[in-house]
Parts: sequence; structure tokens; C-alpha cells
Amino acid sequence: MSRIRLLMVEDSEDDAILLLQELERGGLEPTWRRVETEEHMTLALREQPWDLVISDWSLPRFGGDLALKMLRSSGLDIPFLLVSGRIGEDRAVEMMRGGAQDYIPKDNLQRLVPAIRRELQEAHSRHRRRQAEEEVQRQLRRLASLRAIDRAITGSLDLGLTMQVFLEQVWQHFSPDAARVMLLDPLSHTLEPVVAQGFFHPHGKVLLGQNLTGGVALERRSLSCHHPDFAKCPPLAEVMPGEGFEAYMGVPMLAKGDIKGVLEVYFRKALAHDEDGLSFLEALATQGAIAIDSAQLFEGLQHSNRGLMLAYDSTLEGWARALELRDEETEEHCQRVTKLTVRLAQAMGISGEELLHMRRGALLHDVGKIGVPDAILLKPGPLNDEEWVIMRAHTTNALKILSPVAYLRPCLDIPHRHHEKWDGSGYPGGLKGVEIPLGARIFALVDVWDALMSDRPYRKAWPEEKVLVHVKGLVGTHFDPQVAEAFLAMIQE
Ligand code: C2E
Ligand code: SIN
Ligand code: SIN
Ligand code: FE
Ligand code: FE
Repeated sequence: MSRIRLLMVEDSEDDAILLLQELERGGLEPTWRRVETEEHMTLALREQPWDLVISDWSLPRFGGDLALKMLRSSGLDIPFLLVSGRIGEDRAVEMMRGGAQDYIPKDNLQRLVPAIRRELQEAHSRHRRRQAEEEVQRQLRRLASLRAIDRAITGSLDLGLTMQVFLEQVWQHFSPDAARVMLLDPLSHTLEPVVAQGFFHPHGKVLLGQNLTGGVALERRSLSCHHPDFAKCPPLAEVMPGEGFEAYMGVPMLAKGDIKGVLEVYFRKALAHDEDGLSFLEALATQGAIAIDSAQLFEGLQHSNRGLMLAYDSTLEGWARALELRDEETEEHCQRVTKLTVRLAQAMGISGEELLHMRRGALLHDVGKIGVPDAILLKPGPLNDEEWVIMRAHTTNALKILSPVAYLRPCLDIPHRHHEKWDGSGYPGGLKGVEIPLGARIFALVDVWDALMSDRPYRKAWPEEKVLVHVKGLVGTHFDPQVAEAFLAMIQE
């Protein structure tokens, strides 16, 4: 039995019972409510998360067309099925245009359950894809902040100014009620605010080990404390009386293994615990620590990039996950091809920085598919000419998206060139032989291998033997013979 939460717009109790019986016969277990007026519809939409709306066409004081308009203007993405006596074709078409998913005549109820199952499935994928889009946008914003901080670090050695920019970025992402950076003076073992924003009262120095701030610095461990788990840390009210804080996140700012200070955000409302938020705050703190470190080192310019790189990398991982979410069929594809690319590259003697660039490039290889609409990306059949133009553009899109980020420039070969072919018949540039960067030659083989071994919206996975024959058949035309040799040797193992 599948549970569904059903909202019925129906004036006849008998018809409602009939519908419910049909659903139960079809293996659905509805919890439901029946409404027959505009006011009740408004209340129902506001109150509860519904999976499905089934609406009659004409009711004494309400109508299917109005119910549909109300649902659509509520912004909720819930399937709407019109189930009524025979209405004219014109009206049915009009309702579908207005966003109804289906029209089922009451004398043809056997169509109802299959339609519901189909629409719930559709709604589920739409929801998932929307989440993926939002996640991609969020990662883009994160990347932009990391860049802004990056620029501030290299552009200014004035600590106060840099920290101001830094705090602005933190503010944008977390929208706290107050935030500050506490700088550690290693000689006096005290922490002192270098920038602070949003506090009602000034707050002075804190000793290492004292209060929340001093604890984070001493233990070098992040601390998040929210209303429900006050037991875990001293009440915020005691530490900062008169501020009305209810939630807190504090993270240590570490650079080259030294503690530079503590970054803190405070909220005057209860906050749900958010692992992901805390780890992003840590990534930002690492950046801030580098800024402090370079300002403190007067020569500043030779600051280590390691922390910065780490911060970027965690953002990339999140981004790659978001991309996979969009196309359910290629889930895990990114992770698999990344691992396989690294193995193959190592087998070919590549190491160090070059390997790192390839790893990042592989992780992001299809980032340009962000610009490919669902209708094309998820099309169950072959693409037509126009659709191919858009699909091929995913390689040049990648260049547009990634090249503004200095740190990612060395990783562009794979996203940009992974569909070039050894004989020059690939895209986007028709590069030939060793004109194609090595990373892209390696990746091309891994990508095709993994793609063929997996289900796609347009075909089922192939058996391994068939993939092997296919890949061998493309050596020297699609693939670099040397890369192919190393690959075949590797998978023999
Ligand atoms: P993808 O699915 O990740 O496939 C990557 C590459 O693997 C393809 O690059 C192609 O070289 C190889 N490949 C994948 N599936 C097959 C297959 O069934 N037969 C053969 N012979 N080779 C295969 P390509 O062709 O440049 O395609 C790039 C992307 O375009 C694909 O990435 C996929 O997202 C999309 N695409 C390709 N063909 C179709 C199609 O027929 N329908 C739809 N909806 N999308 C397609
Ligand atoms: C964001 O909204 O950009 C991310 C902030 C968070 O991780 O909570
Ligand atoms: C590089 O040559 O270092 C980059 C290789 C790649 O990402 O394809
Ligand atoms: Fe691709
Ligand atoms: Fe791919």
C-alpha cells in the first residue's frame, strides 16, 4: 500500500466514497480531506502538505477551474487531476492548459490509479530536479564568496579591511543577527574582536578557554549550539546578557596549523542544526585565517594556498553532487569516472599537481550540462540536430562557467575537451591527436566506458563484454592508442 495525502474538491459525498474505493482497490492508502468552497480550499492549501488534488468540475459554490487557479497561484507543485462527469473537450483542454495533469471522466475510473501513480512519480522527479538546481545555485554562490575573499586577501594587507570583506561574505550566506571575528593574541592568550556586527552591546576580550569563544579556540573545535541542546554548552544568555541570542556557531580559524582566531555567528531565533552550514562556515573560517596570517606576516605575498584550496575543493564536491542529482540516471557517474580517471592517470605515470587538476576536471566534466534543458538532457530517445547543437555546447558552457575562477583554470582541459576524438572528428574544436590535452584523452575513454556500462534515459546499460568490444573498436579513431593500451591493461587486473 502506498500512502498519499489527498485533497478532494467534491460536493457529492457518494462520489467521494466511490473515488476512495477506487484508490484503495488500486493499492493506494489515502488520508484525505474533502472541500467544497473557496474558503475551505484556501485553508486546506495553507495547512497541510498534499500529494495530490482531485477535483470535480462543477460544484454548487465552487468550481474545478477556480480550484486549479488557486492551487497554481499558491506556488505549490502538486498534481491536479480533474475527475468529473463528461465535460466538453474544449473545457478539458482549457484545464490542461491551465496546469491540470489529467482529465478522467467519472464513468472511466479505471484510468484513475495509473494516472495518479504516474503523476506522483513525475512530481517526485520535478521536486528532485528543483532541489538539484537550488543546490547548484547555492554552490555557485559559495564559489563566488570564496573568490571575493580570495581577492581581498591578495588585494589588501590591511587586516581590518580584509576582515570587513570577510564578515560581509559570512553575513550574506548565513544571515545571522550578529557575527564577529575574534583575533587571538598568542602572547596574552586573549581573544579580541577585530570586526563585529549586529551586537547590541560592545563585548571585550575573552581569555583562551573562557566562555564559548575561548573554548572553541582552546580546543580548536567547532561548536554549534541551538536552543534544544542548551545542555551541551553554557546558556548564551549567561555569556552575553541582554543580547537575546538563541543559537550560536563558532569555528576556529586555523592557518598552517596555528590558531589565528575564532569566527562566530549568533542568531536571535532558534535554528535547526545544519551540518552542511557548519562545514561551510569552517571553510570560510579557513579562508579568513589565511587572510589574518598573510596580514600578520608582513611580507604577506607568499601566503600558503593550502587552506584556500581545501575550501574550494569542498565546494566542488558539493557542486558535483548537485549535478548528479539533476539527472537521476547518472547518479554516481561523476564519482566513478573521477576515481577511474585518477587510477588510469596514475597508471600512466601522472602525479602531483597535474593529477590533482585532472581529478578536479573529471569531477566537473559535465558541469556545462547545467545549461542543457531537461527536455533534452532527459529525453528518452535520440536527439535531433537542433538538440545536438545545444547538447554539444555543454563543453563550451563549461569553459564559460569555470574560466572566471583562477583556481579552476588548470582543470579546464577535461570539461572543455572531453568530447574531442583522436582522429579529429570530435567537438567542440575538432582537435586531433596530441593537440588534445592528455587529461582529456584519458577522460574521454573513461567517460564512454562508464556511460555505456550505465543506464541512460535513452538506453539501457550494455553488458561489459559488449562495451569492451566497442571500446576496442574505437582505438585510433576516438581514443588515443596509448591511453587505450594502459586502460585495457588496467581493467585486466
Ligand atoms: P553521456 O551519456 O555521459 O555519454 C558520454 C559519451 O559516451 C557520449 O558522448 C558517447 O561518446 C558515449 N556514449 C554514451 N552512450 C552511448 C551509446 O549508446 N552508444 C555509443 N556508441 N556511444 C555512447 P556524446 O555522444 O558526445 O554524447 C554526449 C552527451 O549527450 C551524453 O553524455 C548524453 O548526455 C547526451 N546524449 C547523447 N546521445 C543521446 C541520445 O540519443 N539521447 C539523449 N537524450 N541524450 C544523448
Ligand atoms: C548559502 O545559502 O549560500 C549557504 C549558506 C549555508 O550553508 O547555510
Ligand atoms: C593539466 O594538464 O594539468 C590539466 C589536465 C586536465 O585537467 O585535463
Ligand atoms: Fe560530456
Ligand atoms: Fe559524462
